[in-house]
Amino acid sequence: MPEPDKHLFEGKYCILEKFIITGGKPLMGEVTIGGAKNAAVAILPATLLAGGKCVLENLPNISDVAASVEILRAMGAQVKMLNKHTLEIDTTHIMGTEVPNEMSRQMRASYYFLGALLGRFGTASVAMPGGCNLGPRPIDQHLKAFTALGAEDSVRAGMIHVESDNLQGCHVFFDTVSVGATINAMLAAVMAHGTTILENVAKEPHIVDVANFLNTMGADVRGAGTDVIKIRGVEKMHGCNYSIIPDQIEAGSYMVAAAMTGGNVLIKNVIPKHLEPITAKLERAGVLVEEYDDAVRVCRTGKLESLNIKTMPHPGFPTDMQPLMSVLMTIAQGTSIVTEGIWENRFRFADELLRMGANIQVDGRVAVIEGVPELQAAPVRASDLRAGAALVVAALAANGTSEIEEIAHIERGYEGIVEKLQGLGADIRRISIPEQTLRQAL
Ligand code: EPU
Repeated sequence: MPEPDKHLFEGKYCILEKFIITGGKPLMGEVTIGGAKNAAVAILPATLLAGGKCVLENLPNISDVAASVEILRAMGAQVKMLNKHTLEIDTTHIMGTEVPNEMSRQMRASYYFLGALLGRFGTASVAMPGGCNLGPRPIDQHLKAFTALGAEDSVRAGMIHVESDNLQGCHVFFDTVSVGATINAMLAAVMAHGTTILENVAKEPHIVDVANFLNTMGADVRGAGTDVIKIRGVEKMHGCNYSIIPDQIEAGSYMVAAAMTGGNVLIKNVIPKHLEPITAKLERAGVLVEEYDDAVRVCRTGKLESLNIKTMPHPGFPTDMQPLMSVLMTIAQGTSIVTEGIWENRFRFADELLRMGANIQVDGRVAVIEGVPELQAAPVRASDLRAGAALVVAALAANGTSEIEEIAHIERGYEGIVEKLQGLGADIRRISIPEQTLRQAL
């Protein structure tokens, strides 16, 4: 697994890392999609519930996964790498129930350690998740579920602490549809006494994947993928072998990249059903999408048509694809309206697109995009994972050579993005400039 995010400081040198992309080459060929990041960052903490050995296959080799593994190791789990995408994790002997502050702050999904530790040991402490680039990210719905199960929560020295010596099945109706709260509630409830009913839950493919993993470990979770999940508490869970589903958003990102560059790409190791909301919009925009059993081919020869898009919880159009589709719309004919229905602040890439010659106006959660014939290369900066991926796609189609900074955001979620794009014929490279060299250049 790669080292966790540390792009700014490495030893005493400050490393400036960038992607250098010369646009204008249609992407051609085949690309293979890895395991789903947002399933992996929940399934890794969930191995704590096994109190035994789990073998996880199809794990993406990305820094968010490395950060979760580092936390597991720090807590006493024995982790063996069987190959690049397979880990054996033995959670028989766990030394504590507090996730070290500096580790949990490395990534937001560390909140899943709350549910998993509470579920197995009846107590957990994790750093309060900080604000993030997408706007406020409260965890009130996670706490609502823990409280309904009988846990008490408190915040001490920046750590959120949850505790119960007797978790009891309960009924929770979530006020907001939340991926994180749905998963955390499942983790905490699988070994509670009695039956838990969760209503108004999230239905994303990774919710179903986590439920399947829990069931493979001996849990009794039914209804994942619908609005209501029913969990009968079991006394004990056990280790298992499990393969994580393909990443819907990584796949969607390559679909958009193929469409953006007027390319023809076979995207392999996907579940086409999970891509339907993306496929439907691409087809509307005039892109050809062919579905196979576990692959999709995306091809564009004609002009792109403008679209209206509103992001919504699954099966609606996924918010994580919004920045990528917004980029695609910058070169579509006509006016597109993109409405962000999940996050308050997910148009931070718009300023960067303006630098590339796009015509995009943002007012709160709505962006109005007038298509232009072509984007122009520019130096730009990634503000978060998907915004960064969207800028890569913009640069692949732009006229000239762009430089993208803050690429550690992108590498949190896209394994081998440079190599995969190079394999499709893109002109992209990654450069690292140590501070010493930078100083000498000044
Ligand atoms: N919300 C609350 N209270 C809560 C939890 C959420 O009000 O207790 C609100 C949020 O503020 C937001 C909405 O509910 O407006 C949805 O948030 P959700 O909890 O579903 O998001 P999340 O679990 O924090 C996951 C993904 C995100 C993805 C969202 C929505 C992980 C690790 N992250 O976040 O992925 O955007 O679901 O699908 O699974 C990404 O991969 O780039 C990414 C940001």
